[in-house]
Amino acid sequence: AITNRFYTYERVEEIVAFIQNIVPTKPEIAIICGSGLGGLAELVVNKIVIPYADIPHFPKSTVVGHRSNLVFGALNGVYVVCMQGRFHPYEGYTTATCAFPVRVMRMLGAHTLIVTCAAGGINKDYSVGDIMLIKDHLNFPSMAGNNPLIGHNDERFGPRFPPVGHAYDRQYSSQMKQVAKKHNLQLREGIYCALGGPCYETIAEINMLRLLGCDAVGMSVVHEVTLGAHCGFRMLGLALITNKCLSEYDSTVEALHEDVIRISELKANELQQLILDFVGLLKQN
Ligand code: 6GU
Repeated sequence: AITNRFYTYERVEEIVAFIQNIVPTKPEIAIICGSGLGGLAELVVNKIVIPYADIPHFPKSTVVGHRSNLVFGALNGVYVVCMQGRFHPYEGYTTATCAFPVRVMRMLGAHTLIVTCAAGGINKDYSVGDIMLIKDHLNFPSMAGNNPLIGHNDERFGPRFPPVGHAYDRQYSSQMKQVAKKHNLQLREGIYCALGGPCYETIAEINMLRLLGCDAVGMSVVHEVTLGAHCGFRMLGLALITNKCLSEYDSTVEALHEDVIRISELKANELQQLILDFVGLLKQN
């Protein structure tokens, strides 16, 4: 199936032109705010907010806990564009549609992409509220034939066979570790695994994922990072552990979306502080 016929290069150009008519400044850094983490965009100053509904051809975000805006402005002295609310394959969009705003933000001029998300903790050492630097990922939807780059490849976006082994920038990771250290904040580092959702995992699936080396599990990020790697973004990923995944049949707690939102809102401040400081470091370079 050819899944990326709609968001052509020309269509992305059209959207970029629409945005540039409203926003005079070029963003350096693109940030995708995960569930309950949209508050980061509220810290932006000299804000210009464009609701997704006002942007030609933009999908609508349908999930509780996600707002639906592109937010432009300065964060800690650096021009950014924030996606306040993202798109998920479980909403019925293809992975290509979910991730296409990454190309819009790249064409607007951003060179760095920061992705944040809520995730379930698979690593038994992890606790609710932990923040995990994403070192690498397992892209299950891609392994099942749902890679966002399937179909015609427009070389103006990037190469037919893009490498993704270094999608998460090693220098950014070590800079983020330094920022966390400065704040005396324990930062985990691990493997994020994406599943299609919308169901949370079965106990057997959790145990399988742990065997495979996953530390956290979610339903987003990987399609965005795939397009990001394709179009040349330097990327950093942070996952907030909002719940611990069940791995025994006699445990009674189940993952709940309300808990995911509650915990991420509770811990959002720490994550925001990390990103604020990290953005500040990029300004000095
Ligand atoms: Cl437990 N699973 C998945 N797939 N996504 C999540 C989650 C769990 N917790 C937050 N997001």
